[in-house]
Amino acid sequence: MKTVYFDHAATTPVDQRVLEAMTPYLTEHFGNPNSAHQIGNNAKVAVEEARETIAEAIGAEPAEIIFTSGGTESDNTAIKGVVNATGKTEVITSPLEHHAVLHSAEALKRKGIKPVYAEPDAKGIIRAENVADAITENTAMVSLMHVNNEIGTINPLSEIAEVCKEHGIPFHSDTVQSIGKIPVDVDTLGLDFLSMSGHKIYGPKGIGVLYMRHGTPWLPWMHGGSQERRRRGGTLNVPGIIGLAKALELSLTDMEEHTRHFKKLRKQLIRGLDETFGDNYCINGDPEQGVPHILNLAFTGTEGGLDGEMLLLNLDVEGICVSNGSACTSGTVEPSHVLNNIGLDTEVANSSIRISMGKDNTPADIDYLIEKLELVVNRMAGTAKV
Ligand SMILES: Cc1ncc(COP(=O)(O)O)c(C=O)c1O
Repeated sequence: MKTVYFDHAATTPVDQRVLEAMTPYLTEHFGNPNSAHQIGNNAKVAVEEARETIAEAIGAEPAEIIFTSGGTESDNTAIKGVVNATGKTEVITSPLEHHAVLHSAEALKRKGIKPVYAEPDAKGIIRAENVADAITENTAMVSLMHVNNEIGTINPLSEIAEVCKEHGIPFHSDTVQSIGKIPVDVDTLGLDFLSMSGHKIYGPKGIGVLYMRHGTPWLPWMHGGSQERRRRGGTLNVPGIIGLAKALELSLTDMEEHTRHFKKLRKQLIRGLDETFGDNYCINGDPEQGVPHILNLAFTGTEGGLDGEMLLLNLDVEGICVSNGSACTSGTVEPSHVLNNIGLDTEVANSSIRISMGKDNTPADIDYLIEKLELVVNRMAGTAKV
């Protein structure tokens, strides 16, 4: 039986070209960039080239790029680093953030820091007015994601940045789901900090970047060697860094083509869903202000709603890989905090799945998905057609 993967917001396979770029740095050029000999220097030169590529891709200076172990570390490092440096007692974020941000902010409660949540609208978008309303003289920073990993909505970052700037407050954004998918430029978006991750853009897992604008108050928490200008100790993940830079470069080159591809597939998918399920399904989030490759669906045609977890498992048996809520939280039975916080009924939230398309998905994959959704949803709903 064929298996079709529709969970690219959880992770992506490493692109062959990325793998080819990385391989020499696992074998031949294995050196530690901190070593003072030529083998170390080869690695160092490659790392610095990668840093330049990444900085250029987001409109930053190379010295403003810090390599981390991924999106989670970058989020933690931005939030904890600013709070420690400013000594202020409130962090503004939203209830729709990834747990890397939410739990970082919550963990700071132990230090007397209060997380303050800017209200999203019913479509899952954080408006600049709501951020302005949450600001006080105690605000240390604002941290709001660019694209939501569960529903794909895009926050108006440049408008929010204006508000932060007026108050002199550092602004961090988790751009893990937007980088390589929509334009991300730190000056256009007005960001002081940005988090990115390799494995969402056909790069390797375990590598990420924290962009940090020069002069923004921040203190390191990862102490060790003098790597990354003493901002993040630890031997650099050279193959990972080379892979991330290559993956980012490729995703930018192909961005327009991929966007066109996703829009076509999305149109086909929605047409198929309309024909198959009519009014018995809905799209969560804002279909107008969202990325085209993420679609969060709820099947609403049965009384009490379908069990999203069972739906996922049944689809898996039929060769379709999707997710319900964020992959990072699967294994827990709690409904998605994102769907809960955009005001969906628990029934709708619990019957939702996330379909996230990738560059290699085809129209035939979409037909297969619709065929299997029809089979599984109708089977789960009993003999009656939903
Ligand atoms: C929005 C967002 N932020 C952060 C992360 C965590 O990134 P990483 O897996 O690189 O730690 C994810 C991964 O699911 C994500 O979707």
